[in-house]
Amino acid sequence: MPSIAFYQDELISYLQQKITVKEPRNLYEPISYIMNLGGKRLRPALTLLVTDLMGGHYKEALPAALAVEVFHNFSLVHDDIMDDAPLRRGQQTVHEKWDINTGILSGDAMLILAYELLGTYNNPQFKVLIDIFNDTSLKVCEGQQYDIDFETREDVTIDEYIKMISYKTAVLIAVALKMGAVIAGSSPEQQNALFNYGMNLGIAFQLQDDFLDAFGDAARFGKQIGGDIIENKKTYLYLKAMELGSKAEKKELADLYSLDPRDPSVKIRVVKDIFKSSGAVDKTRGAIESFTTKAFEELKQLTDYPQAQKTLRDFGEELMSREV
Ligand code: IPE
Ligand code: IPE
Ligand code: MG
Ligand code: MG
Ligand code: MG
Repeated sequence: MPSIAFYQDELISYLQQKITVKEPRNLYEPISYIMNLGGKRLRPALTLLVTDLMGGHYKEALPAALAVEVFHNFSLVHDDIMDDAPLRRGQQTVHEKWDINTGILSGDAMLILAYELLGTYNNPQFKVLIDIFNDTSLKVCEGQQYDIDFETREDVTIDEYIKMISYKTAVLIAVALKMGAVIAGSSPEQQNALFNYGMNLGIAFQLQDDFLDAFGDAARFGKQIGGDIIENKKTYLYLKAMELGSKAEKKELADLYSLDPRDPSVKIRVVKDIFKSSGAVDKTRGAIESFTTKAFEELKQLTDYPQAQKTLRDFGEELMSREV
């Protein structure tokens, strides 16, 4: 079976054929910019990989894989506006390099491009893919809205947080896998097992993203470190610290999350110290491991596909220790 890197390279060649700059340049250049900034391209690699693993041919999955990646990048362009983020993949975000209006419109156009790519499939496959995709896209918007609502709420629970990240992040990863299974002609049970593997892995993935947002290395992670703390995001780290911290730690954390200092460096440093001393960091690492283990449980259902079981397990192990 080819490596993840092989599928990523195939995706890049296809992307370069499909995503071109035309007039008006201020609409298409930002699209080409963000799509060519790189990123891990995990979701499309999963679509292509699963298609092969489940007995199809990855070339058939290229439009779906690119649709998923274009949708992902659309959500990032709008997410960076919503999160007021200056950096993405080590470079300026679209709204910083151009402006907010450009980010909004280029993002809108990317959503339409994603649908156009799915439009290359014929029925009955098209109908199945479009239904899965519609359900996903709306869930991502719901998750993003919860994320923003939680910034100003003080009573967010862990369950609410898990639901929020399931929607904003995990469903797209789950759908990337499920689309591969659909294109390969897998049974509904196999499609669901892969979807559920993706949901659990996606939750672990966002927990790791939250962890790296606070404790990652700026040069490697490519995003502003402490961005979630500046924006008062109610992450797992924050919620666990509010549950496990001492009385003094909880009060300090709550106070800091009600402030918007002009220079956030002290806020970031103190919050990170509380995340560590309260035990929230250890709990987050534990949760990443436990959702990854749950993901692996789902793979047991793919009894006739030992290669898929092994490859997707290895993939999950790698993700758990990622720093990018
Ligand atoms: C970032 O996703 C947004 C989240 C859902 C955490 P990735 O970490 O996959 O971003 P890129 O595409 O590799 O840059
Ligand atoms: C983003 O979550 C999820 C979506 C874009 C839908 P984050 O806001 O944590 O993603 P990053 O950290 O900016 O990549
Ligand atoms: Mg963000
Ligand atoms: Mg966000
Ligand atoms: Mg993040």
